[in-house]
Amino acid sequence: MKSAATAVSTIVALALFGSLCVGAKTVISVDDVQSIRVDLDLFRVARRVDERFLSVAIDASLLAQEKFMNLLNSPKLRTLAKALIPAFLRFGGTKQDFMKFNPRGRYFQARDNSSSAVQGKLCERLELPPFLENRLKQEWVLQSKTLLQEELEGKYKKTKFSEYAVDLLYAFANCSGLDLIFGLNALLRTSENTWNSTNAELLLKYCESRQYVMSWELGNEPNSYEKKAGIRVDGYQLGQDFVHLHQILQESVVYHSTGLYGPDVSQPRDHRKDLLTGFLETGAKAITACTWHHYYVNGRDTSLEDFLDPEVLDTLATKINEIVESVSPGKKVWLGETSSAYGGGAVGLSDTFVAGFMWLDKLGLAAELGLDVVIRQVLIGSGTYHLVDDNLDPLPDYWLSLLYKKLVGPEVLKAQVLMNSGPKKPIRLYLHCTNRKSTHYRPGAVTLFALNLNKNEVTISLPAHTANSTIEAFVLQSAETGEQSLYSRSVELNGQVLRMVDDRTLPPLKGRELPPGERLKLPGFSFAFYVLIEAQAPVCK
Ligand SMILES: *[C@@H]1O[C@H](CO)[C@@H](O)[C@H](O)[C@H]1NC(C)=O
Ligand SMILES: *[C@@H]1O[C@H](CO)[C@@H](O)[C@H](O)[C@H]1NC(C)=O
Ligand SMILES: *[C@@H]1O[C@H](CO)[C@@H](O)[C@H](O)[C@H]1NC(C)=O
Ligand SMILES: *[C@@H]1O[C@H](CO)[C@@H](O)[C@H](O)[C@H]1NC(C)=O
Repeated sequence: MKSAATAVSTIVALALFGSLCVGAKTVISVDDVQSIRVDLDLFRVARRVDERFLSVAIDASLLAQEKFMNLLNSPKLRTLAKALIPAFLRFGGTKQDFMKFNPRGRYFQARDNSSSAVQGKLCERLELPPFLENRLKQEWVLQSKTLLQEELEGKYKKTKFSEYAVDLLYAFANCSGLDLIFGLNALLRTSENTWNSTNAELLLKYCESRQYVMSWELGNEPNSYEKKAGIRVDGYQLGQDFVHLHQILQESVVYHSTGLYGPDVSQPRDHRKDLLTGFLETGAKAITACTWHHYYVNGRDTSLEDFLDPEVLDTLATKINEIVESVSPGKKVWLGETSSAYGGGAVGLSDTFVAGFMWLDKLGLAAELGLDVVIRQVLIGSGTYHLVDDNLDPLPDYWLSLLYKKLVGPEVLKAQVLMNSGPKKPIRLYLHCTNRKSTHYRPGAVTLFALNLNKNEVTISLPAHTANSTIEAFVLQSAETGEQSLYSRSVELNGQVLRMVDDRTLPPLKGRELPPGERLKLPGFSFAFYVLIEAQAPVCK
């Protein structure tokens, strides 16, 4: 059990001495909430999200030097990716609009037939040998610094990629079972400022020749093209560019009915909304889902308190509602790229235990408010918001994602906190049917997940009609105590530190069974999943 007092003194100490702190903000609410009651509606599915709701991204910057794509052949990374399916794998980001496909032609294809047929045994044959993996990992650390510097300066180098990179990316997705989405360069423009599709068509032809099953995007955060590249593209034109791409796809034998997602705008702020409105006028018919990006805070200007602040977490709800309102009904809306802090994440926060509060709350809110898919920036890559560290070992948000995948199904039910005292509402909770695909719980089981943003343990009382259900609890806490607790890069599940057994084996994620009628105790600064095994929710059968 963690000592609540030390955890709070950490925050106070940081508020006083931490260079990351915003001075004026008050430290965590210390409301004396000890016990709450919740109401669960087991009779109505409020929404249903995609089975791949929790999805992941690889930033296109991995391709800035083609050799780093070999990291995708790491057996460890494959193991971690496989455990997250079903999910999309988005390959995109700022760099996608600075990349050109540069096929090397026949010489290359003859040399490397094998990677096209990525199914079956070939997935194993493609594995990266350990010495190469280690060398690449070391070099990647330096490369990440270069990439972050580039982003800081806002000057993006143009790069080229070959069939080899495409093969590695596809092999990774296909061998892991992830559905690949590839982000095309929208900054290749004609003199009339329309999209020049020549290069994309070359890439499509190549992927088609290899029978690669994948879907597409066009452009990343077009609202900032002027800043990034000195090119202004309005929404209306971008919509037409999407229609153009849609036509090209429709003529393809392999891609005629594949997904096309866009426009990947940043979160709404004044003119950005205009871009989306214009885009939807001309482009809505071309897209399968409307994508936008969200980050709570600026990575260079945030603090621990932001990560635990219910008001900061609530800003997402406002943004979602704004977007959903402007997208025509019936069109799916996705968070096409999202994480805690933009600018590569917040150093010392985005890759630590405390990041889980933003991540889990985002998953809860986004499903509740009607988004269909949430794509986490990033599975692997530069910055600090990755799910695996520089050694390709899983970080706390990876374990959280894994548990979410295992326990949370696509049906969203309503859960409500009664008497959540104080204006800061330190307890947040969400309810879904239990995932019937990856668990052996009996039909009718539901999964409640809850976040305690407060230092104190909170007791949660369930409504009478579920009070008799056996409950399996999966409580996640920092693996460290004391000052560093919330900044820990390891996490405990029910008191056991989570780590891989070896590069090919994940540990079992065991719940702790609570006797019927026992109230749930959520420790301070923790989050948990509770499976109500005998809830017998009619809509979860
Ligand atoms: C590559 O595939 C072509 C036909 O698709 C075949 O003729 C050629 O022998 C293959 N090369 C290798 C090295 O397997
Ligand atoms: C993997 O490739 C096979 C053969 O092309 C295809 O049938 C399957 O749908 C692919 N799976 C994924 C997840 O891309
Ligand atoms: C489009 O780009 C290609 C080079 O990829 C160039 O040859 C062609 O002239 C361009 N087309 C237009 C209309 O600008
Ligand atoms: C819970 O179990 C007790 C004892 O088995 C029983 O008396 C009670 O009716 C049950 N309550 C509900 C709501 O099923």
